[in-house]
Amino acid sequence: DKGTYPYYMLKEIDEQPNVMRKLSSEYLNEDGSPEIEEDLLKSIKQADRLYIVAAGTSYHAGLVGKNLFETMAQIPTEVHVASEFAYNMPLLSKNPFFIFLSQSGETADSREVLVNVSKAGYKSLTITNVAKSTLSRESNYTLLLHAGPEISVASTKAYTAQIAVEAILAKGLGEADQIKAATEFNLRQQLGLVATGMQTIVDEKEKMNQLSKDYFVNASKSFYIGRGIDYFVSLEAALKLKEISYIHAEGFASGELKHGTIALIEDKTPVIGIITQKNTSNLTRSNLEETMARGSKAITIVTKALAKEDDDIIIPDVNSMLTPLLSVIPAQLLAYYTSLNKGLDVDHPRNLAKSVTVQ
Ligand code: M6R
Repeated sequence: DKGTYPYYMLKEIDEQPNVMRKLSSEYLNEDGSPEIEEDLLKSIKQADRLYIVAAGTSYHAGLVGKNLFETMAQIPTEVHVASEFAYNMPLLSKNPFFIFLSQSGETADSREVLVNVSKAGYKSLTITNVAKSTLSRESNYTLLLHAGPEISVASTKAYTAQIAVEAILAKGLGEADQIKAATEFNLRQQLGLVATGMQTIVDEKEKMNQLSKDYFVNASKSFYIGRGIDYFVSLEAALKLKEISYIHAEGFASGELKHGTIALIEDKTPVIGIITQKNTSNLTRSNLEETMARGSKAITIVTKALAKEDDDIIIPDVNSMLTPLLSVIPAQLLAYYTSLNKGLDVDHPRNLAKSVTVQ
């Protein structure tokens, strides 16, 4: 039931702070350390490489996960699009471990991979929102997203829940090995900050509505740019805009623009820069300026610590690995309002189904 909300998508965006709190209480001890099945941790520890396999938004959450697993657990991690992996399998490491990310747990492309790797005798974990779903039943381990039902075709709270669960698992693995990047902060406290930060952003949703009316409703194309995890969020932000507002949007590595794509920038083309990482913030800013020199309307989503006077959307500071949990929220809202302002059916975009059960 969507209650007083006009669309499920807005309800689900608003639910995200509570999902973060729920995950904290489901998976973290009072002292902030993760409580994860010993057997799962042991099984992953035996692997020399993680393979994250997923589709769409879940694939984008996997990209963010790579940074979490490599930083906190120091396990090399590859992320793959399920439909590609299924028929063009890369050369695997000696002891691979598979992680399937899927909101529904029913995505046929991911299932095809799971069937193949299980046949080959490899162990797997499914991170999903649906207990007893196909992927959950057919893999060795399951971690639930506890996000509550996600009805809108455009995935929002499942994406942030997937990132949070990946962070919890990565931290559990890293703590077991006393890896400093995992032990040096309290995840319970951080997810608390994330929840409060999400709330601040959704409370300012009118701002995104205004930006949507001013720069997006009449645009035919747009870009999100960033580096590292900001680039990964750019991919997700662009997908949100494409699927419900039908505006052509691309997520781009900001340094790669000048190698070709910048030719697409015209007068008033909106380009949103996501800037949350200290080591790359100035680089992305100068890439944004390069687009402005070609006439773009540049908009910034920046963490408070890195913000400058003319920035547009300032998001609260959290641990630098966890910024995707906040930087994606303005993008979700911008996509929502652009779809709404164009008079489209936000929850049921054309040509799309909630769960894709064909290959
Ligand atoms: O249920 P899954 O997470 O496996 O679904 C994967 C994609 O089909 C899904 O994320 C899709 O890209 C969404 N419509 C994106 O908003």
